[in-house]
Amino acid sequence: MIHFDKKNQIFHLSNNKISYVMQIEEGGNLAHIYFGKKITHYSGHYRYPRLDRSFSPNPAGSNDRLFSLDTLMMEFPGNGFGDFREAAYDIQLPNGSHVAHFIYQSHEISQGKPALAGLPQTHGAPQEIETLQIILRDEVAALELVLNYSIFTDTSAIIRSSALKNDGLEPIVIHQLASQSLDFPNRPLDLIQLNGAWAKERQISREPVQTGIKKLDSKRGSSSHQQNPFVILADPATTEFSGECYGVSLLYSGNHETIIEKDPYDQTRLIMGINSYRFAWTVPPQKSFQSPEVVTVYSNQGLNQMSQTYHRFYNSHLIRGQYQLTERPTLINNWEATYFDFDEEKLEQIVDEAKVLGIELFVLDDGWFGARENDLTSLGDWYENKGKLASGLRGFAEKVHQKGLKFGLWLEPEMISEASELYRQHPEWALKVPGRSPALSRSQFVLDFSREDVRKHIFDQLALLFNEVPIDYIKWDMNRNMTDVYSLLLDPTQQGEVFHRYILGLYDFLERLTAAHPTILFEGCSGGGGRFDAGFLYYMPQIWTSDNTDAVARLKIQYGTSLSYPASSMGSHVSAVPNHQTQRITDLAIRGNVAMSGVLGYELDLTTMTDEEKAAIKEQVAFYKKHRQLFQYGTFIRLLSPFVGNDTAWMYVSEDKQEAIVFYFRVLAEASAPLITLKLAGLAADTLYQMGKNKIGGDELMQIGFYIDPALSGDYATQMVHLTAINND
Ligand code: DGJ
Repeated sequence: MIHFDKKNQIFHLSNNKISYVMQIEEGGNLAHIYFGKKITHYSGHYRYPRLDRSFSPNPAGSNDRLFSLDTLMMEFPGNGFGDFREAAYDIQLPNGSHVAHFIYQSHEISQGKPALAGLPQTHGAPQEIETLQIILRDEVAALELVLNYSIFTDTSAIIRSSALKNDGLEPIVIHQLASQSLDFPNRPLDLIQLNGAWAKERQISREPVQTGIKKLDSKRGSSSHQQNPFVILADPATTEFSGECYGVSLLYSGNHETIIEKDPYDQTRLIMGINSYRFAWTVPPQKSFQSPEVVTVYSNQGLNQMSQTYHRFYNSHLIRGQYQLTERPTLINNWEATYFDFDEEKLEQIVDEAKVLGIELFVLDDGWFGARENDLTSLGDWYENKGKLASGLRGFAEKVHQKGLKFGLWLEPEMISEASELYRQHPEWALKVPGRSPALSRSQFVLDFSREDVRKHIFDQLALLFNEVPIDYIKWDMNRNMTDVYSLLLDPTQQGEVFHRYILGLYDFLERLTAAHPTILFEGCSGGGGRFDAGFLYYMPQIWTSDNTDAVARLKIQYGTSLSYPASSMGSHVSAVPNHQTQRITDLAIRGNVAMSGVLGYELDLTTMTDEEKAAIKEQVAFYKKHRQLFQYGTFIRLLSPFVGNDTAWMYVSEDKQEAIVFYFRVLAEASAPLITLKLAGLAADTLYQMGKNKIGGDELMQIGFYIDPALSGDYATQMVHLTAINND
């Protein structure tokens, strides 16, 4: 899959779908040539033209006025020695200079993919992966830059990361080391990105890439509600079903940045990695720094194909452990049912109702520990609030098990309340600058997870808890962003490392915790989907998509999330009406259909529901359980976008195309409304499908489509269509 043409100094990475081409240019500069649909044999003809561009310098040691790094398509650009565009790295050398120019030294091609210590990473069997490591050097600075590229046999993706080694005698400081840079020749491109806020995560915005520089980032210490570490560059004509696009997804849960620059010659550069904001990482002599991975997916059949590539790839080659490709349980969570106001009797009633309705897992949310009766106290005191549950936490968990449900528990281990035993004992364990009072958020501080002693203390507390209580599921929450970022154990010159050290500490913790408890299903959460990123999915196969459980708001949130993340990863609950976030009143039908579109759960007080409502829920749960392989792992296809109009639709098709489920959602009713024709996709053209009482060919359903039921009435209406193939044999 990886070929080096020695004569022309060309690297060509390819499988049956894609090609990625680089060339070692004059002076050992590594140039980017092409990334896109597979090229059988690249001739070498697309070398960057020689042209004298005024005010574009020529590389040191050359007076060739026709060659400049300022215009060349670069593979991993630097700045300060001829390229004036945005750079992929910024390194401060012992003499204070920031000039580091890396030239090709050697390379290595190997089978499989070397492990990245301490970071989330994609994985697979060695025989399905090849890896290229290109080693570049700056001889003057005694620095080695390693660019890693892996390609899988059957996936339209290139997985990249970079590492910097200090071969000198004195420490150097990295202010930026991107995971990847990708240059495009002059062509119009659209930027598609996922931004938002709490309860409004991953909203899609699309705009033409304009001349100049655009930066999308998070400085919050987490990947954030506000800007997901995932972007797309697409041809302006690209739709869900046609056209070229490139998805770029960072496997990292902390501060990230994506820089998009369109230069004066209309070439576009996209750089993605850890945020350079306040980043200063000292690398001592003979030590290295490793960047997180980026997964870049190419599609020539629109956004759906790109998303499906991510979904399959992340399900099989990112998510790990017992729950990889495994059907996830339906759950009932008590948060919106009771908030902090619960006792055992109340919870038991909910569990009993859940059992009757066929729900498989009960999750006890916030409020069971320390002296926690509201959100003002006790984070850090991870032991039972004695007396809150009559049988005790363990007794209650056992009771849930006896009733035939699994037992899950909420935790927020990275946090500390001012009003907690832990804070009384260790006020210095919170992130804070000496002499300053740190900012509160939700009345809590952030524990300094860069510190090993802090992590050990929390780990030990959790070990006792997990030892005592039979736990099947953990919801790992994080309810504020980081301020006052300073670690007391580090000296002043190392304070620019704290953001990243925190994430490395967290990853270390999660690695050990998940390894120690392989049977526990972990669901990530950060006030909903504030840390919904590919890095977190490596440790936790599910993430709570949003605190917004309103079915209508969820259409956009889940549609946006699906651009990169699989349905199997999206926690999605039916909640009560009026909805607690929007006050909207919707039918159980639409709430059910939206929640079934991810990993189905319920988050409402089942004890107050009517018999009719309970019967409807029972039916939803049974239907979901019967078809959850399809919902969680089928091919997900977006049909109509909630960002475009009143109508949303998506569908799931089984791998063998024998079955499909389609959901249609209409937000507002309209008098004398136009009819809606829904055309399906992904079916077998030559197969006949049973659709209700009708038998319809796959090609007809895809070419002509069908009318959405004109009798659908009222606001927030929904229709589900179930298709099963009719086999002649
Ligand atoms: C934020 C989460 O997103 C909610 O689901 C809930 O667990 C609360 N935290 C509890 O404090």
